[in-house]
Amino acid sequence: MDFDRRRFVLGSGAVVGSATVGTTMGSVVTAPAAQAAGTAMPLVDRAGRPDWKAVRNEFRLDPSWTHLAAFLLTSHPRTVRRSIDRYRDLMDENPCWIWENHEAETARVRASLAGYIGGRPGDIALTPNTTVGIGLVYNSLRIRPGQELFITEHDHPVHQCTVRLVAKKYGAVVREGKLYDDPAQATEAQAVERLRSAIGPRTRTVGVTWVHSSTGVKLPIPAIADVVAQANRGRAEDDRCVLIVDGLHGFGIEDADAARLGGDFFISGTHKWLFGPRGTGFVWGRADAWQQLSPVISSTFPKHDLDSVTTPADVSPGAYFAFEHTFSVPAAVEFHQQLGRAGIQNRIHGLSRQFKEEVAKIPGVTLRTPLDAAMSSGMTCFEVAGVEHAAVVERLAERRIRASVAAYRVHYPRVGTGIVNFPEEIDRTVAAIRDIARGR
Ligand SMILES: Cc1ncc(COP(=O)(O)O)c(C=O)c1O
Repeated sequence: MDFDRRRFVLGSGAVVGSATVGTTMGSVVTAPAAQAAGTAMPLVDRAGRPDWKAVRNEFRLDPSWTHLAAFLLTSHPRTVRRSIDRYRDLMDENPCWIWENHEAETARVRASLAGYIGGRPGDIALTPNTTVGIGLVYNSLRIRPGQELFITEHDHPVHQCTVRLVAKKYGAVVREGKLYDDPAQATEAQAVERLRSAIGPRTRTVGVTWVHSSTGVKLPIPAIADVVAQANRGRAEDDRCVLIVDGLHGFGIEDADAARLGGDFFISGTHKWLFGPRGTGFVWGRADAWQQLSPVISSTFPKHDLDSVTTPADVSPGAYFAFEHTFSVPAAVEFHQQLGRAGIQNRIHGLSRQFKEEVAKIPGVTLRTPLDAAMSSGMTCFEVAGVEHAAVVERLAERRIRASVAAYRVHYPRVGTGIVNFPEEIDRTVAAIRDIARGR
């Protein structure tokens, strides 16, 4: 792609001088006002390598902070902000615009996500977030009394809660397991063996999370899918064990086709690492897996024949929603595609390795996420001896470094190293953690 085309894609068409207001540890960051005025820099060089300073300048993130919790909820990059503005203006001028354009725009969102995850547009349902996607799949799945729903202690509380609510509704049984004890020592072999012994003849669902936001452990989903496939040999359709993957913290980081990981369903919000519009997400399901569902919420254009085959469009909740956000998902996908999935993965894993290697050297600090990139991603958890987890986050915040602690039973302070971060910020964060560990 040449530069002119790239500028066009960014929605500017013109490059104007940028007002530099400050630095984030040596990295030039542009003022939000200048960004709003329409500054657009090429995001990759002639060899296709991302220019991470230009990428950061696409965001209005406050340059006086180090943002290591940007995965909690996205800041919209310029191209997404512009897309949202454009759709909002269209509907403010003429709300009925939606009637003629709903179908084509929705198809565009599905096609865009399908291209990114290596799946088919027709296998994707659109949701406002991960939680609704998880709720839709479990609540729509045909479950009989006495069947078992397997979930791990590493899954997010919304996933665990959904499983409990659904079990209560259908008289099913919740089985909770652990795929590792010490997260830093988690291995593929151990996770696979623990799962194999947890699946029984009555197991109807296996709920797992690609990257655990409690520990930073990344699960080997293809190996887990093999275990589930073996368990399913010879089972009747209604007894099949369905693999449901919460993909939120791998999606937008890992250079892998989510639709080819091996799960029956892959569910994610697009408003975290992809930097998609807030309040957007999707469910991808294998074509035959959708047939296991009976929709629980009406779609925008409900079918008269409720006994006909189920499609993702039937499962996508209707009718009116924040269209300007949903229709702007392709802008975020395109932003990522310009940078390239491999380049994004390398950057995020590189920053994460830098943090892990350095923080592990600090006396009194214990790394809780595996060093191995095969078992970890962009989120790193750690502990500081003698300092409460929340206090670690507070003391980092006093130094204008934004970290977080998740609301899990087992939880640690954590940092998420994303495409908006720089190696200098990681050095500064490690130095701050060293000070906290020394009691300063
Ligand atoms: C692993 C995981 N799953 C699901 C959620 C809920 O995500 P959403 O806000 O998209 O519903 C979170 C929240 O951060 C999470 O960490």
